Parts: sequence; C-alpha cells; structure tokens
Amino acid sequence: MSPFTASITSLDLADPATFVRNDPHAFWAELRDRDPVFWHQGTENRPGFWVVSRYADVVTCYTDAARLSSARGTVLDVLLHGNDSAGGRMLAVTDRPRHRSLRNVMLRAFSPRVLGDVAEQVDRRARELIKQVTRTGTFDFATEVAEHIPMGTICDLLSIPPADRPNLLRWNKKALSSDEADADPFTALEARNEILLYFTGLAAERHARPGNDVVSMIATATVDGEQLSVEDVALNCYSLIIGGDESSRVSAICAVKAFADFPDQWRAVRDGDVPVDSAVEEVLRWATPALHFARTATEDLELGGRRVRAGDIVSLWNISANFDERHFDLPLAFRVSRDPNRHVSFGHGPHFCLGAHLGRAELRALLTALVETVSHIELAGPPQRIYSNFLNGFSSLPVTFTGR
Ligand code: HEM
Repeated sequence: MSPFTASITSLDLADPATFVRNDPHAFWAELRDRDPVFWHQGTENRPGFWVVSRYADVVTCYTDAARLSSARGTVLDVLLHGNDSAGGRMLAVTDRPRHRSLRNVMLRAFSPRVLGDVAEQVDRRARELIKQVTRTGTFDFATEVAEHIPMGTICDLLSIPPADRPNLLRWNKKALSSDEADADPFTALEARNEILLYFTGLAAERHARPGNDVVSMIATATVDGEQLSVEDVALNCYSLIIGGDESSRVSAICAVKAFADFPDQWRAVRDGDVPVDSAVEEVLRWATPALHFARTATEDLELGGRRVRAGDIVSLWNISANFDERHFDLPLAFRVSRDPNRHVSFGHGPHFCLGAHLGRAELRALLTALVETVSHIELAGPPQRIYSNFLNGFSSLPVTFTGR
C-alpha cells in the first residue's frame, strides 16, 4: 500500500460539505487504487468507520447480510450518532429471518397488477408535465417537473385520498433537510412525526375496513404468524416514501442535466438510435442517487486484506463502485448505449431496492415523454448541489426545452 496523499486523509466523508466542495471522482479513483478498504478515523464525538470503494468489494458486502447487519441503521449519519429506532421493524433496517418474511409482504405492493395501474398514471403525469414546461421557456426542472413525479406515484401506490395529498407533500418537503446547509433539524423531525402519525391513522382505518390497496395489504398481512402492529404498518408505509421519493427525484434531475451536458447522447436517445431502457440504466449509474449505504459487522471478518472487527461500521460507496475502472469500461464517459451496465445504484443482494421496477418505470416515463416532445435541452443557469453525504445530485436545475 502506498502512503496517502493529503487529499485522502484530509477529506471527511461524514461531512456533507465534502461532497459539495471536491471533485469526487479523482478522490475515489485514488482511494480504490491505494487503499480500497480504508479506515476512516473517528473524532471525539463519533467513531471511525470502514470505507469500501471497489465494485467487487461493495457487491461482496451487500451480499454478506449474515455478517454485515442492517439493523442498527444503514446510513452513516444515523450509525455515527446512535442506532436507528426503526431497527427490526422497518424493512430496510431489519435482518434475516424477519427481513425475508416482511419483504415478502411488502413485495405484494409491487405485484404486476398494482404496478401496471401505477405505471399508466406515471406515463400520463410525465407527458402532461413535459408538455406544459416545454411551452414555458426557462424553468427549474427540479421544482416544476421532478418534484411531482415520485410523490404522486407513491401516493397512487398507497391509494392516498386526494384531499390528504397536499398535506403529505408539504410535510415530506420539510422532512427532507438535505437541500440546504442551514436546514432546521427540528422542523424536519416534526414533519417526519406528522407523516408517521398520518400513516398510523390510515393504517388503523384500513386495518378495520380493508380495501384493495397497498396500505390495507400491509395492514392485514401476517409476518411470522402475527399481524403487524399499527405502528409497524405506518413505519413501513413511510419507508416507501423515504425510499422512493428523493432517489427517484434526483435521478430524473440527473437525466436532464446529463442530456444537456452531453447533447450527442441526447440525440442518440431522441432519434431512437439507442433504446430508452438502455439510457435509463446509464442515467441510474451516472446519477448514483444514494452515495453510500452502511452496515455493522456482527463478527470479525476479513475484507480486502483488512481485519474488520465485530461492531465496526462498514460503509459501501456506490458512487465509487459505479465508476470503478476495474468493472466499467471508460466509467467517466456518459454512454447511453453502455452494455453490460450492472451498476449498484439499487444496491445488491437481500436488500436490493424493493422499488427498482417503479424507479425504472418513472425514468422510462420521463425519457419517453422527453423523446416525444423535446428537441433540445439546454442549461439556463447554474444547478444547485444537494448538501448531503448520502443523497447525490441537484436540488435546482434551470433549463430550457425546445419543442420538436
Ligand atoms: C432499498 C436505491 C427507488 C423503496 C434500496 C437500496 C438502494 C435503493 C441502493 C438498498 C439499501 C440497502 O442495501 O441498505 C433506490 C434508487 C431509486 C429507488 C436509486 C430510484 C431511482 C425506490 C422506490 C421505492 C423504494 C420508488 C418505493 C416506492 C425501497 C425500499 C428499500 C429500498 C423499501 C428497502 C429494501 C430492503 O431492505 O429489503 N433502494 N431506490 N426505492 N428501496 Fe429503493
């Protein structure tokens, strides 16, 4: 192992500011070469943690759910400051064997019948939004389009009554504190509690009078022979919003930014030279909406020649794995025809994204609507990066679309 350069040791991966100020790709390439399983020092207030940066090691860790647990939490921000209070109750932060039973129940929310209905509505919503903005000149794609697709889709999926949607949208916007450096964490916490409270009420209602919808499905299902408590139903409904809103939104924003940055790639999609599905996968790799996920070692283990101790936090950096030159040919090129394209944007293994079909359907709907309506995509001002060490992308993207 060669000695570190200043850039590796001085960057703090727990600090959101790191991801706004630095060129991430140069940093990750250096880390993959020099110390692919890197021990990130702790501070007085927080423990150190492992940083896994190569594609092969990241995939190995995602697969090894028996020795790398999700139950204490799966994002650094939570793990470095305590435990996830939803551990063992909410799907993403539950380990086997309960994880498997709970996942089987949750998967019913994504059956072809349910998804078919939702996908139709996504297509309609994307078409209407793109038509509208193409007529308006310069606009912010993040607020005028991207914001409206995923939350609408999740509300459709959960059959949220139309009258309740404005409240849910308002709380959800406040619950996301990652857009600004000075966002108030208490407002965010309050908003998250409002959402949980809302779903607790809805879960109780649908438990008593079940309908033919996803909340009723979860509320009446049995996991290991018992019905879920109303609180657990609420947590798992909320997890669909947490999982599905931000990541889908930032990947839509990234799609438009990438097409503006690489007009030849946009033309290839627009003119039908490359199938939309292939472009969707490259957008997902390029966007890598979740920079990392993390685990806690349940026993001592060896990883890339390093000794990981039981209780250590192990962070898996999708943003590095998806640009690993050991796995991808010319990873720094945005190529809509890339094949194969086995990115880890949806994770891998037992916790592989439950909403991957839906995430893909949303991007497919967006790209299809763009192809039908738009000829040119141009940036009209500086995009604003999200302030986070977990969520990757932009919260504002001024653009102009020229109609076909
Ligand atoms: C899990 C990414 C869309 C719900 C995950 C994981 C990733 C991910 C990386 C793995 C987490 C881990 O291993 O700890 C994404 C991206 C999306 C997306 C990039 C969009 C582009 C969605 C949507 C939904 C959703 C639309 C639901 C409506 C979930 C849930 C889990 C999950 C519930 C936990 C699965 C489990 O632990 O078994 N997602 N996601 N995601 N995602 Fe997504």
